[in-house]
Amino acid sequence: MSKRTIVSMPGDGIGNAVLPEAIRVLEAAGFEADYVHADIGWEFWCTEGNPLPQRTIDLLEEHKIGLFGAITSKPKSDADAELAPELRDQGLVYYSPIVALRQHFTLDVCARPCQTFKGNPLNFIRRSADGGVEEPEVDTVIFRQNTEGLYGGVEWTNPPDNVYDSLMSHPKFSMNFGDVPREELSVSTRIFTRQATERILRAAFEYAKKFGYKSVTVCEKPNVIRETSGMMLALGKEIAAEYPGIALWDTNIDAQMMWLTKNPEDYGVIVAGNMFGDIISDGFAGLVGGLGFACSANVGEEIAVFEPTHGSAPKYADYENSIVNPIAMVLSACMMLDHISEIETAAKMRKAVAEVVEEGKVRTYDMMKMRGKPDVVEQGAASTTQMADAIIAKLS
Ligand code: NAI
Ligand code: MG
Repeated sequence: MSKRTIVSMPGDGIGNAVLPEAIRVLEAAGFEADYVHADIGWEFWCTEGNPLPQRTIDLLEEHKIGLFGAITSKPKSDADAELAPELRDQGLVYYSPIVALRQHFTLDVCARPCQTFKGNPLNFIRRSADGGVEEPEVDTVIFRQNTEGLYGGVEWTNPPDNVYDSLMSHPKFSMNFGDVPREELSVSTRIFTRQATERILRAAFEYAKKFGYKSVTVCEKPNVIRETSGMMLALGKEIAAEYPGIALWDTNIDAQMMWLTKNPEDYGVIVAGNMFGDIISDGFAGLVGGLGFACSANVGEEIAVFEPTHGSAPKYADYENSIVNPIAMVLSACMMLDHISEIETAAKMRKAVAEVVEEGKVRTYDMMKMRGKPDVVEQGAASTTQMADAIIAKLS
């Protein structure tokens, strides 16, 4: 088979520190690929007025698989002030290039695995019935619909006539909001389509089947949000019938957040709409090490982009010797390998990460619960490169 080409998009800030380290780990694990660099992020907003240049879209279109680091988004006033003088007054508006990528390529399936690594000092612990302490082993993968729902961007303040008139035709609106001056109304919609809802549910069940999970939990709020959450649960029941070995559970988002710390080890695959999926995946990530460990996949019908959940952490971006944890990026690279059926190489890399964490000799500052400062390495924390070296050493 010919070598794969991976589009490498380090982006801004610490994306430039963690992505090259993940590529080093991939190479050491024996994954053969060419990496082609693609521009994305703040620099291209400032110099070209576009944080997601067309040439980057073209590269993804051609090669289909991307590894992404992180981008920096700043408030509107900074975006305007930092734009190159010759580009000002052209009506250019900054937008988040990663959100734009997800929308452009309809990367509608987002997967976020949250798995406990033994020996990680950041693991969640809880009190047991006899007063002792227990460390539940979490192995949950959250499937979040990535393009619709409350983050779909269909919203108004002071809605125009046609929108306002349609809203007024709903009895609950006219009864509860009919007296409110229109300019005091803000409306954000929650739109679910059957097609995208089916796709996220099916992706969750397929993943559960492929990796041997025993349950898929639909986590929504169908008792209150009857139309959208209701559709997801109803479709979940239909699709579950095609997967006889896998139990369908359903929970409400609020109760799920309470159970998060009570019995997180009980959940396998969880599937939810955009905002609830965002919330639950951050919640579960907090049980297994937080941003230094949280990886994700954005998968469309043809194109997929893999990225750590964290952002560009600007305060650590300019360190000569980077201190941030590359594990989230390395685990995102493992998800990429799973996606292209390099499952054994992915497993080998995860095992290497697990061994480094369990051994506990090499830990980045976050794992040592230190405040991030340039001198953490002198105080015994591993640098980004040292952590990657330790993972690579376990591969051989
Ligand atoms: P952030 O994730 O960049 O950083 C928050 C804090 O988490 C950091 O200060 C650091 O203490 C810790 N942290 C993050 N990654 C870490 C790592 N690998 N190892 C150890 N510690 C780590 O989020 P923040 O500060 O809210 O946003 C910074 C910038 O990143 C903003 O411009 C924001 O818009 C952008 N952002 C981009 C995302 C993306 O590219 N997908 C996601 C989230 C934020
Ligand atoms: Mg989030």
